[in-house]
Amino acid sequence: MGQTLNIALLPGDGIGPEVMDVADALLEQLIQRYQLPLAATLFPWPSHAWYQQHGQMMPEDGVAQLRRFDGILLGALGDPGPLDDPERFVLSDSISLGPLLALRKQLDLWACERPARWLAGAPQYLADPRAKDVDMLVIRENSEGEYSNQGGRLRAGTADEIATQVEVFTATATERLIRHAFERAEERARLRNTPRQFKDGKAAQVCLITKRNAQPFWGDLYTETFARIAALYPEVDTHHELVDAACMKFVQSPWQFDVIVASNLHGDILTDLAAVLCGGPGLAPSANLNPADADTPALFEPVHGSAPDIAGKNLADPRATLLSLAMLLDTLAPNHPAIGNAAQHLHDLIAEDLRQPFTGTRETGQRLSQRMAAAV
Ligand code: IPM
Ligand code: MN
Repeated sequence: MGQTLNIALLPGDGIGPEVMDVADALLEQLIQRYQLPLAATLFPWPSHAWYQQHGQMMPEDGVAQLRRFDGILLGALGDPGPLDDPERFVLSDSISLGPLLALRKQLDLWACERPARWLAGAPQYLADPRAKDVDMLVIRENSEGEYSNQGGRLRAGTADEIATQVEVFTATATERLIRHAFERAEERARLRNTPRQFKDGKAAQVCLITKRNAQPFWGDLYTETFARIAALYPEVDTHHELVDAACMKFVQSPWQFDVIVASNLHGDILTDLAAVLCGGPGLAPSANLNPADADTPALFEPVHGSAPDIAGKNLADPRATLLSLAMLLDTLAPNHPAIGNAAQHLHDLIAEDLRQPFTGTRETGQRLSQRMAAAV
């Protein structure tokens, strides 16, 4: 049967440890039930607590340690909360979120995939009944763009201060991202039970997002690359939206979208909006991947942050983390069918559970665990 695959669990800060407790317990249960060749390791870092003890969010060799795993699940990083505790240990965002950006960059996890599919029972904020059909995948550039951390502050603190924040877009990163979006669009069309119909009867679509009317340099690079790659995928319908118009259309008619490919910042913003279309941040999973390198572990995380306002109160919905865990297991499935079955089982349990009102972090975990135990 071969070797054991290793999963790193990084609870992090705020509601992270609470939702990770649930994920950890269910993962153990899945491992037992399906006799999965998997082992989970829980890490006390990156976290505020680790910083408090060691003066840094994670050990120097943190990324190197994690690189040896087969998959990584992160809870959340940031203000540990609860907000009504003025004594809590808080760090600047640039420090506390550093490990997330470091992992994405140093592991070269250049594609961030954020599926947004409305599941029956999830809160539905749009009144239009077609909002039940929302099923999109936002693919966000995850290695450069607006998050390149280039720039600086000149004459800081004076009335003449100048701040620059330079965006970097390379042909290489643009090309690989857009190509990946088309590959995913084709794959989704293949795997879909009920076919979808886009322009000219095509079964898949990729929508490119830019702000090329105001930011033509990278906008044109994206547009030209998109056109060149689209020509290689004649079976996939294409269109383009400016990011501001895309926000409107996500609310007016989100069911019309399939795969969306966007820059780092645009993808970040659009995926919070997409999360709400599917019931809210408590239900939105994500994957940070290097689709070109099967040996690099992917990093999975709920789209939500550390939610300090509700930290420690048993109010965080663990299902975004559990859906992220299901995605993690799914990436290991190609060589391990049993792991694929477990991923499907976990996904189905969560989908069924959505019909119950949310009653608490721990209660949700217990209910899912009982259902898993009861399933034949
Ligand atoms: C996300 C988050 C991060 C991002 C923050 C915490 C830096 O908002 O994963 O969506 O913007 O990438
Ligand atoms: Mn975000």
